[in-house]
Amino acid sequence: MARQPRHVRPRPLLQALIATGALVTGLLAAGGTSQAATQGPCDIYAAGGTPCVAAHSTTRALYGAYTGPLYQVRRASDSATRDIAPLAAGGVANAAAQDSFCAGTTCLITVIYDQSGRNNRLTQAPPGGFQGPAAGGYDNLANATAAPISVGGHKAYGVYIAPGTGYRNNNTNGVATGDQPEGMYAIFDGTHYNGGCCFDYGNAERNSRDNGNGTMEAIYFGNIKVWGYGAGNGPWIMADLENGLFSGVNQHYNANDPSISHRFLTAIVKGGPNRWAIRGGNAQSGGVSTFYDGVRPNVAGYNPMKKEGAIILGIGGDNSVGARGTFYEGVMTSGYPSDATENAVQANITAAGYATSSAGTGLTPGTAVSLRATTACCTDRYIHHTGSTVDTAVIGSGSSATEKGNGSWTVRTGLGSSSCVSFESKNVAGQYLRHQNYRLYLQANDGSSLFAQDATFCPEAGRNGQGASLRSLNFPDRYVRHYDNILYIAANGGSNTFDNANAYSDDVSWLVSAPWAS
Ligand code: AHR
Repeated sequence: MARQPRHVRPRPLLQALIATGALVTGLLAAGGTSQAATQGPCDIYAAGGTPCVAAHSTTRALYGAYTGPLYQVRRASDSATRDIAPLAAGGVANAAAQDSFCAGTTCLITVIYDQSGRNNRLTQAPPGGFQGPAAGGYDNLANATAAPISVGGHKAYGVYIAPGTGYRNNNTNGVATGDQPEGMYAIFDGTHYNGGCCFDYGNAERNSRDNGNGTMEAIYFGNIKVWGYGAGNGPWIMADLENGLFSGVNQHYNANDPSISHRFLTAIVKGGPNRWAIRGGNAQSGGVSTFYDGVRPNVAGYNPMKKEGAIILGIGGDNSVGARGTFYEGVMTSGYPSDATENAVQANITAAGYATSSAGTGLTPGTAVSLRATTACCTDRYIHHTGSTVDTAVIGSGSSATEKGNGSWTVRTGLGSSSCVSFESKNVAGQYLRHQNYRLYLQANDGSSLFAQDATFCPEAGRNGQGASLRSLNFPDRYVRHYDNILYIAANGGSNTFDNANAYSDDVSWLVSAPWAS
């Protein structure tokens, strides 16, 4: 049984701090660890007179005093469930509790609780205009370990939305309806998106159907161009207002909405009577910029709005389930937040310390390693090369010296980025792992910028909770994967055979072990 969430009330002192800007400075000075934070984003919204009416996060508490459950996981082995709470009041999620509960099996995220005290929790989205792929037309639930990161130095998990996945609440309390004003922000993985409809977080129809222009108001993130788009090739933050993703006042193109793809992305949409705005920025540093702030779109049906007040995550208003993305935290407010309030929230976000979790993976430049598969089929197999072909092979103490060398790698500072790594063959000096048409090869470094990019991988905590996963530098939606014992960079659930979602998290997780050849 979930503990009762606490609803934190506005504090006069906090209001004064927002007004003077002192809050932002103080939070930034405090920086580094959200464990020490005394205020969360929803304390800041409340102080600004626009309190949260929904507060969702699998990574951290969004009120300084919140100690209740953040989310619930269900494990496959016996269908038991477990609530995951913050490590301390206002702190980061207790990912270790999830790891221990899900050890030896798999877990799905079943509930994302509402920290606002209004019980606007998100659960498995039901069928609507479109059917989901799960039983009864429901959408799929997210794999609980598919989006590991760290926040303030503590491990946490995001909500990984593969196409077909979606969460919803059609029976909410306190969320804006009609033309009432509201605000919302979310933190997404800005490198994980697609051109499907529609990776949204926010206000939608209560019957999961397309009820016409203006019946929803949600943050959209991705690069679909069917309804609207901004500068460059995307992805863009847009507002999903139903039958239209809007990047500004015009129906299709608005030059001021930039392509934006920070690894941790703050995305903001707010709307009230004939005024709305899009804002965004880097959730790891700096402020948020305004990409649109003005009147409702110059298309019939969006002024006044006819918002219905349901809440969606990862899907369109009519339960379109074609999109992908990753969600870490987000809130919806009552009232139209001021830019100053949102700027203070952004300062709180950057101080929380969102980061990818390469620390502890053991991939230190200058050392030699062997990389062992973690998929149950293949735990005696290592990343190995046969000439220029990169595959996995069984290597053991009885293997030949050549085979041991073919399965050993010197970790080098990334040829294309000093914050990532490259892998040089232990027995063919000057030859590195690189991808070409998504397949891995061993090739000599030709000194080109393309080779450097293709040969660079950014280590993260293993996506199945074991070892390390290796994210491609120039295709950040893809990780090094074995499939039929051949190595690729694969996107979970993508269009190639080797992108198959089945066993993906295991296939992209590698145990870093002592090298067979030193
Ligand atoms: O507005 C874009 C999409 O159009 C909505 O999310 C969906 O309900 C409809 O298909």
